[in-house]
Parts: sequence; C-alpha cells; structure tokens
Amino acid sequence: MTIRTTCRCILFIAMALGSVFAQNAGTSSGYPTPRDGFPPSEQRGHGLYLRYCVYCHGVFGDGNGDNAQFLDPRPRDFTAATFKCRSTPTGTLPLDSDLINTLLRGVEASNMPSWRPLSDENRQDLIAYIKTFSERWKTEKAGDPIKIPAETAVDIASIRHGAELFQKMECWKCHGQQGHGDGPSASTLTDSKDQPIHPYNFAAAENDGRFKCGVTNQDLYRIFMTGVDGTPMPSFADVIQPNDAWDLVHFLRTLQTNRRSPENSALKAAGGPSALKAPGDKPSASNPAPSNNGRPSAGGGR
Ligand code: HEC
Ligand code: HEC
Repeated sequence: MTIRTTCRCILFIAMALGSVFAQNAGTSSGYPTPRDGFPPSEQRGHGLYLRYCVYCHGVFGDGNGDNAQFLDPRPRDFTAATFKCRSTPTGTLPLDSDLINTLLRGVEASNMPSWRPLSDENRQDLIAYIKTFSERWKTEKAGDPIKIPAETAVDIASIRHGAELFQKMECWKCHGQQGHGDGPSASTLTDSKDQPIHPYNFAAAENDGRFKCGVTNQDLYRIFMTGVDGTPMPSFADVIQPNDAWDLVHFLRTLQTNRRSPENSALKAAGGPSALKAPGDKPSASNPAPSNNGRPSAGGGR
C-alpha cells in the first residue's frame, strides 16, 4: 500500500465515522447535520434549514440560494444580520421573538412564506441556526425594544395632525402624496444590496391592511419608529414624539382606502379627504419644497 492510498483509507474511515456521529446528533430533524461543534438546538435548526430554507437563503446563509435570482426582493443575507422587522432601534439586532414573529407571519409582498405550520421548537431551532451565520450575534446584544405608549383617540384632529407630519417628515417624497408608493424619489431607491426597492403602497393594501412587519396599529407605530433596516426607509424615533406618532399612524390608516377602519370612518364623518385641508392648516405644510434627496432632514423635528 502506498502512502497515498493509506491516507485515503484513513480519510474514508474518518468521513464514515463523522457522518455517523453527525446523524446521531441531529436525528430529531430527520436530516443529517454535518456541522460540528453546534449545540443540539443549532444542530436541529441546521437540518430544518436544509429542508425548508436553503433554496432561497443559500447554504452559506448569504441569500444566494438556487431560487434567489428569480426573487424580488431577494432573500435575506443572514451573514449581515440586518433585519427589516424589529422591535429594537435601527441598527441594532432584533430580539429572538421578533425573528419568531417573522417566521409566523411570513413577509408580505415577498416570496418569504409563513412558517406557522412548523412547531414552536422548530422555529426556535431555525432561529438559533440562522444566528450562527453572523459573528454579530456573538459580539453584540439585541437592542432594547422601543417603548410604545397607549394609543390615543382616533378622531379628525389626530388624523389632521398626522397628515401634517406626513408632509413635514417628507414621507411623501418616497410614498407619494396619496401613499401610492410613487413619490418623486421612489424610482431612485435601492436597498443595502443595491437592488431596486419600492416604497410601500398604502392604497394597494387589502382590508386586512398588512405590512411586511405586522398588521396592527402598534405594528405600524413600530415600523416607522424603528425603520426598515437595509432599505432607505429610515427610523423616525429621533424626530417624532411618541403621541405625535399615534397621529401619524391614524393618518396612514386613511391612506389604506380599501380598509374598513375607525380612521376611515372618522375621516368620512368629517367630510372625507377635503377635511384634511381645513382652514387652520399651515399653508407651508401642504407643499414643502423638495430637499436633501428624499431623506428626512436630520434633526428636522417638530
Ligand atoms: C421561497 C423563498 C424563501 C424561502 C423558502 C424562505 N425564505 Fe426567508 N425570505 C425570503 C425573502 C425573499 C426574504 C426577504 C423579504 C423582504 O426583504 O421583504 C426573506 C426574509 C427572511 C428573514 C428576514 C426578515 C426580516 O425581518 O428582515 C428571515 C428571518 C427569514 N427569511 C427566515 C427564513 C427561514 C428560517 C426559512 C426556512 C424555514 C426561510 N426564510 C425560507 C424568501 C424565502
Ligand atoms: C427615503 C424614502 C422613504 C421615506 C422618506 C419614507 N419611507 Fe417608508 N418606506 C420606504 C421604502 C423603500 C419602504 C419599503 C421597505 C421594504 O419593502 O422593505 C418603506 C416602507 C414603509 C412602510 C411599510 C413597512 C412594512 O412593514 O411593510 C411604512 C408603514 C412606511 N414606510 C412609513 C413611512 C412613514 C410614516 C414615513 C414618514 C414619516 C416614511 N415611510 C418615509 C421609503 C421611505
């Protein structure tokens, strides 16, 4: 036997043993788990990931699975640990519960399905595994969730003030004056992967009024106060006061014209959209001059 074939034999034996060990470690998912040094939850998550997620998110978690090229938006790159849906401030890591909620919900207006049919344990294991793709999870803690005060009353005064904020914060530059996602900056926007990205079209929402990151008024509050990281949709936590944020929520709901909502009822009772241009509105609020490339001006607070 030459040295070369001996080496090869040893290699084969080692490989055979390795796969036996790996299979034992990961049997509960029913799939082989060849990655060493992982605790049981990550091992199980790896098996589930190969079964359910790899075709989109890729073997290396970089969002380059076989199907990725056909998808818009592209699957998330887990190596960057940048997530759209967080309860935590912009730039920080999400809580595990944020990621679990994403798995339960799926991501509206994308190919990311809901994983509600899996068990709670499966979802926890998947999250444990996708966190192994970025070192950030070893060196950083998740952010502190933003505080959301109790919702204020839905009335025409609140909606009207929200409409003013929509102007002042320049939401219209991307989302358009009617919230159709067609503002003057809309066609120029790209995400952190240089892919074109479209601002949310409020008017296209069905009666359930879904967003990528939730469906309730609380979710809507959270979305613009935490921002959609990895996209041009900024966080407004530093420039909008908590109660003012509820006014903005109430106005945004009236842009979802297909929806039966307390906000749309209040607007209708006050005479419809023209009620938002009532005397007493500051004239400057209705048509501000475009500035600084569609981004809200830093410190351009109240
Ligand atoms: C059919 C393709 C597809 C499959 C299968 C898929 N995803 Fe996704 N996933 C996507 C796309 C596309 C996005 C990006 C959505 C967006 O940016 O709006 C995404 C985004 C995500 C996000 C990020 C959400 C955020 O807040 O940014 C997580 C977490 C995620 N997927 C986990 C999973 C897990 C876990 C599995 C397997 C159980 C899985 N995905 C399977 C397509 C897929
Ligand atoms: C610079 C452009 C820009 C500005 C300014 C902007 N947005 Fe956005 N917004 C976006 C983009 C792009 C998306 C889509 C993100 C995605 O699909 O991942 C978005 C998405 C959203 C969503 C939906 C997120 C989801 O979960 O589906 C809401 C709600 C929203 N924006 C509210 C606002 C509000 C309120 C303002 C002003 C206070 C504002 N936006 C200002 C670009 C912008």
